[in-house]
Amino acid sequence: MKSNFRLPGPTAVPPQVYDAMQREMVPHRGAEFVAFYRSMLERLQRIHKTESDVLVWPGSGSAGWEIAITNFLSPGDETVALVAGEFGDRFALVAGKLGVVAHRVELPWGSAFHPEILATALGAHPGAKAVCLTHNETSTGVTHPIGELAAVARERGMLTFVDGVSSVAGIPVDFDGWDIDYMMSGSQKAWMCPPGVTIAAIGPRAWDAYERSTFPKFFWDAGPMREMSAQGITPTTPPVSLDYALDTAAQMIEAEGLEHVFARHADLGAQTRAGIEALGLELVAEPGFESNTVTAVQMPDGLSAKLAAQRLLDEHGVTVATGQSHLADRIIRIGHMGWVDSEDMDNCLAAVKAVLG
Ligand SMILES: Cc1ncc(COP(=O)(O)O)c(C=O)c1O
Repeated sequence: MKSNFRLPGPTAVPPQVYDAMQREMVPHRGAEFVAFYRSMLERLQRIHKTESDVLVWPGSGSAGWEIAITNFLSPGDETVALVAGEFGDRFALVAGKLGVVAHRVELPWGSAFHPEILATALGAHPGAKAVCLTHNETSTGVTHPIGELAAVARERGMLTFVDGVSSVAGIPVDFDGWDIDYMMSGSQKAWMCPPGVTIAAIGPRAWDAYERSTFPKFFWDAGPMREMSAQGITPTTPPVSLDYALDTAAQMIEAEGLEHVFARHADLGAQTRAGIEALGLELVAEPGFESNTVTAVQMPDGLSAKLAAQRLLDEHGVTVATGQSHLADRIIRIGHMGWVDSEDMDNCLAAVKAVLG
């Protein structure tokens, strides 16, 4: 058994990744680190399937929202934000707090955004410069069809900012193939690392928009970060140990093979859903759009999700998450991303059966 830590982030960290963090410090602008950093960024580009830039900041997933808004828009610009869960909601909130007009398009939590819904919404907001999308909504276990949604936005000349926090490195992402403009993720999800690194892929149209952005920015300014990253250095001190962790995890992903990693997650998703449905429990996600990194499960009427999660931990040593916002006590969320195999899910599902079956 590896781990019974089935939170949808932070996720279980493999020993090789922890080991990498024990490495001695080196000068962060010295030749050794420069060579390391450049090769890490190339690895991250391959995993995003992009030839454009992938930049890395110390931060959590939320930083990725702020990077998108402050680098590629200006105060007063309009965006359309797709909201069908906690993280879509927060993306819209961040945009609004920073001074951008976020036109929210809301669906009930658990629903997926279909391209026609976006097309209608964009028709109502022709002045919008960007669309804020969540690839994998961690609060509901829904994977939105980002490739198709991005195509709709692009037809209207709008930028696509994609939150890939719980998708990148677990669910297929094809940054260049989907022709999206920006996608961010966090080290603590399918990347199998401790929390603390924000990873952002940035495409050519976003860089054009960067030139027009008037937002004040310093720490999240992507321009200097891009220029210096190309030389293997960063404007401020990089999180050296976390970068070692991230590179080691990325090496593990490449050694397994990206397509194999995606297939393993697809299998884990199917296994989890089958186990849950065999118990007569219902999923939160709209059929056909269930996530392969996190499964959200409705609690039977009258049963507290918080109590169920506590019993899973106390009686079986299995850690899962409860819901967020209005679903806080109504659902549990089982993470199956990163360092997970089918035996781990067998253990988790056996515990769920003992508590909820
Ligand atoms: C889809 C998604 N976006 C954004 C975030 C926010 O990330 P963080 O809490 O690392 O700032 C999370 C965190 O769980 C997430 O799942």
